[in-house]
Amino acid sequence: MAEIRTVTRSPEATTEFGRELTARLRAPMLLLLSGELGAGKTTLAKGIISGLGAAKEDDVTSPTFTLVHVFKRQADGLKIYHVDLYRISGFADLESLGLEDALAESAIMIVEWPGKLTLRTDWPVVRIHLEHRPQNGTPLENEGGECRQITVLDPADVLRDGGFAVTADDSKSAKYKTTRGSDGC
Ligand SMILES: Nc1ncnc2c1ncn2[C@@H]1O[C@H](COP(=O)(O)OP(=O)(O)O)[C@@H](O)[C@H]1O
Ligand SMILES: [Mg+2]
Repeated sequence: MAEIRTVTRSPEATTEFGRELTARLRAPMLLLLSGELGAGKTTLAKGIISGLGAAKEDDVTSPTFTLVHVFKRQADGLKIYHVDLYRISGFADLESLGLEDALAESAIMIVEWPGKLTLRTDWPVVRIHLEHRPQNGTPLENEGGECRQITVLDPADVLRDGGFAVTADDSKSAKYKTTRGSDGC
């Protein structure tokens, strides 16, 4: 199982990390983005959807009220579903979301608040957890800081087939350094 962990120090860095990930994404794939409110799930989704070439960064907004946004890449018709289940009470499945046909296609589905999703699929699943990271010993409750830790869990190693290999050692490379820098992140 591959795991990548990184620390970002700005929303732009989180978006950029999402863009980089897209080199490894192949449809069909389900990306589950977990983490508290404000952890950066939508910010990461901006990078993923724009990196896939399906929308401009600014056109990716939170589907908090509509629950689902669908993007289509002009070049090949690839569909990207951006789902946010924050406002759902109880559990949702693809039928209640009107997405029952989605699994018949080869799409990329990004789900925020995946704990509320009841889903049976044979699509490869990649889990991405985002969390606030205390800065210079500031308590975690202080969510004003810009440090975020992002952990990508890829149990079936499906990201390996992408543009470049993911190895467990990625987290040790300078690029994905998670030791604290002088900024305290
Ligand atoms: N390193 C960072 N990564 C992502 N977002 C950050 C970061 N630092 C600060 N932010 C801010 O935190 C907020 C994250 O919001 P959002 O992506 O909508 O979170 P979520 O979808 O998890 O609720 C934004 O206001 C963003 O500007
Ligand atoms: Mg969000």
